Amino acid sequence: PKRIPVWLDCDPGHDDAVAILMALQLPDIDLKGISCVFGNASLDNTVTNAARCLVAFGSPEQAQRTPIYAGVAKPLIRLVRHDDEIHGEDGLGGVEGLPARDDPAVVAKLDETRGKSAVLAMADAARSLPDGEQLALVATGAMTNVALFVSMFPDLVRDKVAQVVVMGGAEGRGNRSPTAEFNILIDPHAASILFDAEVPVVMAPLNVTHTALFRPHDNHSLLVPPSALPSLPETTPDATASPSKAHTPLRHTLSTLLTFFAKTYADVFAFDEGPPVHDALCIAYLARPDLFKGKRYRVDVELQGEHTTGTTVVDLWEYKKDELVEWKKDPDSRASWGRFGKNVFVLEELDVPEFWKLFQQTVDAADKVSPL
Ligand code: BDR
Ligand code: CA
Repeated sequence: PKRIPVWLDCDPGHDDAVAILMALQLPDIDLKGISCVFGNASLDNTVTNAARCLVAFGSPEQAQRTPIYAGVAKPLIRLVRHDDEIHGEDGLGGVEGLPARDDPAVVAKLDETRGKSAVLAMADAARSLPDGEQLALVATGAMTNVALFVSMFPDLVRDKVAQVVVMGGAEGRGNRSPTAEFNILIDPHAASILFDAEVPVVMAPLNVTHTALFRPHDNHSLLVPPSALPSLPETTPDATASPSKAHTPLRHTLSTLLTFFAKTYADVFAFDEGPPVHDALCIAYLARPDLFKGKRYRVDVELQGEHTTGTTVVDLWEYKKDELVEWKKDPDSRASWGRFGKNVFVLEELDVPEFWKLFQQTVDAADKVSPL
């Protein structure tokens, strides 16, 4: 089967890092490029982190061929906000063994593309696909880069973008306000522009990402090479427990990454079941849509609520059905994904054990090629 051309726009970020790993190592995914946006940390940090992850999680050949671009450093309208409480000062707090920001491979990677915006790079990537192929865009940070892209290049998006898969939003809950999820909250206007663009949008909301928890109790074996398994204890006591031994350098890095993430979730949210690997679900969805269940809805973003700014208003009960004229005309048309349609396919269920198998598979694959 043909590999899916994918562009990943992200703000690494611990779970973004897992998404990068999976995008590099799932055989069905052909990662064409990575772009970065502000979010979990400043743009300068997220772009550096993306390069550090690319160099560490891919083969040297993949690291060389996959470009990284910097995009937008601020939201369209709101004031900028980062999330060092969850991801540490530089966006990848507590992660051991990654190449540093001044590592020659990281510096060289970032030097290649300096001066060209992510938004233009996405356009070039879409445009350069052969006839009949379309790009899948993934957005796992603020949707600012992607909103600019769909606004600037509507024709290109119609012809050459198959879908935009985002981590963000929720049905009736939040993580950075009672009802708003971080990626939408930090630039709700961008999310609103993207959701109303005439392109299929798939959303992995908190409701489903919070089922993919990295529970050391269930999953400690994931980070351990199969050969080392028999000598390991059956369980680890809790999500913040220190990682077990028997790690390759790559597994050690991933283990410290997930352990730090577990600790901030426990400290900040008093949530100690293990961190949700939110962003990785977007990549899993592209490779294995059969692992998910979902439904298409009208979704609007609250732009000026007194208590609810950044909330995704998912019309579960079709209160807005009279507005959906394009959807009624032709649910297969691009227009039916826009302002007058059911604009978002919302993921609602994940086959969690199969997801972790997929993750395991990518760790094993990365282990064979990682220069760590
Ligand atoms: C989202 O916000 C960030 O903290 C994560 O990287 C993820 O993209 C979860 O709300
Ligand atoms: Ca993210």
